[in-house]
Amino acid sequence: MIRPSTEADAASIAAIQARCPEAASWAPLAGASYRCDVAIWNGEIAAFLVWRETAPGETEILNLAVDPSARRCGVATQLIQNILERTGGCFLEVRESNLAAQALYRHLGFRQVGTRTNYYSYPPENCIVMKFPSW
Ligand SMILES: CC(C)(COP(=O)(O)OP(=O)(O)OC[C@H]1O[C@@H](n2cnc3c(N)ncnc32)[C@H](O)[C@@H]1OP(=O)(O)O)[C@@H](O)C(=O)NCCC(=O)NCCS
Repeated sequence: MIRPSTEADAASIAAIQARCPEAASWAPLAGASYRCDVAIWNGEIAAFLVWRETAPGETEILNLAVDPSARRCGVATQLIQNILERTGGCFLEVRESNLAAQALYRHLGFRQVGTRTNYYSYPPENCIVMKFPSW
């Protein structure tokens, strides 16, 4: 099940984030600028997705993490498809070394549309910009 996050989810989201160092180190709850969805798996919050609407019909995925105990069960797929059903286009950024996330996004139809050199810090790394749909 997927639903918008509430303030009561903050501790669960923080716990997942602590177990997912590949994710961005921030996870705001839903607010004026950002939206945050959570996925319930086996009765518990197993993942979160932070996103925002950047233009009418266009969204950006800002953060995503699935608890290690719930991976490869389609949880991230469900969270992202829930966004893609509502939007004409979706962008995201991912570290060049994060091959697992890139595989997920390609699996869902995202394609690389750009690279930003040394975009990330701690550690410094290039950023891959991906877009759905690919055209
Ligand atoms: C990347 C991540 C979100 C994937 O979540 P998930 O729920 O396990 O993904 P799904 O089960 O929906 O995977 C769907 C498909 O994506 C691909 N995929 C997902 N994880 C993969 C991995 N580790 N290696 C290779 N392919 C992978 C596969 O094609 C997979 O289908 P399959 O399981 O039938 O082979 C999860 O590993 C995670 O939270 N990682 C740490 C945080 C992170 O990197 N966030 C992204 C920041 S940009």
